[in-house]
Amino acid sequence: MTDSPSDLKPHKITIIGSGKVGTTFAYALLLSGQVGEIVLIDVDKRRTEGEVMDLNDAVPLSHPTRIIQGDYPDCAGADVVVITAGASQKPGETRLDLLKRNTAIFAGIIPQILRHNPQPLILNATNPVDILSYATWKLSGLPAQRVIGSGTILDTARFRAALSQRFNLDARSVHAYIIGEHGDSEVAVWSSANIAGIPLVDYCREVKGEVCKEDRVRISEQVRDAAYEIISRKGATFYAVAVGLLRIVESILRDQHSVLSVSNLVPGYYGIEDVYLSLPSVVGRGGVERILPITLDEAEQAALRRSAEVMQENIRQLNL
Ligand SMILES: NC(=O)c1ccc[n+]([C@@H]2O[C@H](COP(=O)([O-])OP(=O)(O)OC[C@H]3O[C@@H](n4cnc5c(N)ncnc54)[C@H](O)[C@@H]3O)[C@@H](O)[C@H]2O)c1
Repeated sequence: MTDSPSDLKPHKITIIGSGKVGTTFAYALLLSGQVGEIVLIDVDKRRTEGEVMDLNDAVPLSHPTRIIQGDYPDCAGADVVVITAGASQKPGETRLDLLKRNTAIFAGIIPQILRHNPQPLILNATNPVDILSYATWKLSGLPAQRVIGSGTILDTARFRAALSQRFNLDARSVHAYIIGEHGDSEVAVWSSANIAGIPLVDYCREVKGEVCKEDRVRISEQVRDAAYEIISRKGATFYAVAVGLLRIVESILRDQHSVLSVSNLVPGYYGIEDVYLSLPSVVGRGGVERILPITLDEAEQAALRRSAEVMQENIRQLNL
């Protein structure tokens, strides 16, 4: 893609939430050298000040970048506003209670973004990412294409990594998607997974021996439960999601039209609507430009509909 004159203006990214995910994303963004300005906004101002000081020390060794601790007026002029702010689960708190608390936090954040940037492109990573991205869309009144959830970008990466290990191939040469919820009801799309256009089923038969049902179940579960496994060992996940956010932002800033599994309003595919879920989507300067109707077998369609029902049940409880 050739650079247009607007690409020469330094890009600005505002990050709301400078916890583990927000700061790791800021670090990845700095090292990528793609932006001229990074703003971090968080209710914990003192720690954010420390994060900004630490990141600034890396500037002379990486790329000229203005990194500041800011407030909502600094959403003005941001190419993308990335939300990674949220409360963490208190002992004994249900997921639904946490969802209600995070929705209340978002109800405070979204109007403040809009006051200073009336047509922002918002990328949300806070969990539950699909429901909170839907809430952001509702609360903002923005077109859905400008409100994106990081969705299953991470799960898809994990799926491709697991398949690449199984077949001893570069993960970038394995084409496969996790769709639906970023969470327990996500769907691994085995039916269209392919290597060099060769359906995985045929590839296995001819090249590597069958991927048996047990293999499929094991890989799907490994991908679905990866976050639990990591959190049980180190308390949180942040490196891979930060790179996932970077990948989405890169496709937006450079208008790359990359196909990424991000969360967006499902446009009536498979009888599903009025819910945010991940499907392979074309991401460019305007946000989600198109959602691709990936071919699914009957079991995958049913699983995707179940995933949508789980999300819709949660959305109903929020009375947005
Ligand atoms: N989508 C994904 O693939 C993915 C992966 C990992 C984590 N996450 C999610 O990302 C979110 C952040 O995770 P983390 O590990 O960085 O958590 P964290 O607790 O380290 O950071 C959250 C930050 O939000 C801030 N915050 C809380 N309320 C705020 C408000 N009203 N305004 C501004 N800032 C506020 C907190 O002060 C804190 O710094 C969580 O919801 C987590 O589940 C998503």
